[in-house]
Amino acid sequence: MTIKNITVLGSGIMGHGIAQISSMSGYHVILRDIQKELLDKAMEKVKWSLQKLKEKNKITSEQAEAYYNNITPIIDLEDAVKEADLIIEAVPEDFNIKKNVYKDLDEVSNDKTIYASNTSTLPITELSKLTNNPNKFIGIHFFNPPQLMKLVEIIPGLNTEPNITNEITDFVKKLNKTPIICKKDVAGFIVNRVFIPIVHEAAYCLDRDKISMTTIDSAVKYKLDFPMGIFELADYTGLDVIYKATQEMSSRDKKVIYPNPKIAELYNAKNLGQKSGQGFYEYKGDKYERIDLSEEKASKYDPISILGVASNNASWLIRNEVCSREDLEKALNLGMGLKTSIFKLVENRGIQNVVDKLKSLEKQFGEFYQPDEYLLNLK
Ligand code: 3HC
Repeated sequence: MTIKNITVLGSGIMGHGIAQISSMSGYHVILRDIQKELLDKAMEKVKWSLQKLKEKNKITSEQAEAYYNNITPIIDLEDAVKEADLIIEAVPEDFNIKKNVYKDLDEVSNDKTIYASNTSTLPITELSKLTNNPNKFIGIHFFNPPQLMKLVEIIPGLNTEPNITNEITDFVKKLNKTPIICKKDVAGFIVNRVFIPIVHEAAYCLDRDKISMTTIDSAVKYKLDFPMGIFELADYTGLDVIYKATQEMSSRDKKVIYPNPKIAELYNAKNLGQKSGQGFYEYKGDKYERIDLSEEKASKYDPISILGVASNNASWLIRNEVCSREDLEKALNLGMGLKTSIFKLVENRGIQNVVDKLKSLEKQFGEFYQPDEYLLNLK
């Protein structure tokens, strides 16, 4: 089957970006949501992003206009999916919402259509069982902002036909992205298994080390070579996304996260990050905004426990054969913009120092911090 027509369900941060890059790669795209206001807002964001790409001479004015016009916003579900070869579901991370969406979808879509979910943490095999054709169901996990991040994780479920995995891999390559197969349907897949736990760890650092957010973030940026600070990234991603991912990942595997109550507090107070004007930091509006971080501040903090948690979870993924070390390093580079390999950072800081830090945290706070065999055996 040749994929030509794409329907993206859900026009939020991820949905509008996925629609945009699909349009930029020549697919006919329908963007579907349940209210006109949501679609209008999404199309505004597409326009802003295309304008940015034009300013940077990555596309021409004519291309910007054509890519914009190639996305059709639609509310009616049947109209939205009747011609679709591939449906990419990017609705909120709630099992019941997704369940209802798939039920409605099965009534109106055609049997040949591939369903791909952009879920960040929900189990693919279980989601697939909510549909009439679990063999045509797959996980396709993009990273925010999809327009700039090169990684797409592909997660086949237990029932996914191998030819569907191949078609989706080709599709991702045509989007000019790098596909990485997540070989096991584990909580958090690859990148979120590293990213979400370090948001919690950074929040613990605030209390334990009595140091400011901008100092921790500066250290993460300038000493761990992240493109953003970790609180900055959490706000950019959305505290609702972080909170729901935490709930889901912890319910599947207790050892994956040591939940810090600060995340639930922010979520319950509707301080969702950049999009709501307040998260860990305060923002002027809901537009793209960066936090002022500096090398001078970075010099005042050693982010060893954040490095320890990140490399420990990364080690778990490799030891459990969810992905190879090479794929893991590529995924963190292309999905989170990490400029230096996490294991190289551990080497630079001293493997034994990182292991000792984890052991001392394990003594105080329990088995979450227990160093993984893979980390212990690093030479
Ligand atoms: N489209 C087009 N341009 C965009 C854009 C978009 N969607 N978003 C930002 N830009 C523009 C900015 O406006 C800026 O333009 P300017 O130079 O005119 O001001 C330009 O891109 C570069 O931005 P910055 O100067 O802020 O510089 P950076 O070099 O830091 O790049 C970044 C920005 C690519 C976002 C980088 O900071 C980065 O990689 N951050 C990490 C993002 C990350 O980790 N994402 C994954 C989160 S986890 C996830 O999504 C999974 C989910 O399941 C939770």
